[in-house]
Amino acid sequence: MYKVKFKNKNKLIMVQKGESILSKCNDEGLDIPFACLQGMCTTCIATVLEGKTSYIEEPDQDSLSEEDIKNNKILLCVATPESDLLIDEIED
Ligand code: FES
Repeated sequence: MYKVKFKNKNKLIMVQKGESILSKCNDEGLDIPFACLQGMCTTCIATVLEGKTSYIEEPDQDSLSEEDIKNNKILLCVATPESDLLIDEIED
């Protein structure tokens, strides 16, 4: 279990490796926008500020640009923690 903290939300959730960060957020009542849940639409894009993630399912090739990847952008619906995380979620 890893601690996942969202910069703009005052809540810490525990996520197991192999578990989708986004689905755990939903279970815990954290309001993170999403749509496809398959790494395609980028609605759930966020920035990893601290820590390491990997993907349960590889996101669609066109979903994140090289620039996004370089800037630690991830898709929360298909991402899982590899360490404790601090995440900057997208604010509307
Ligand atoms: S919800 Fe569509 S990419 Fe995550």
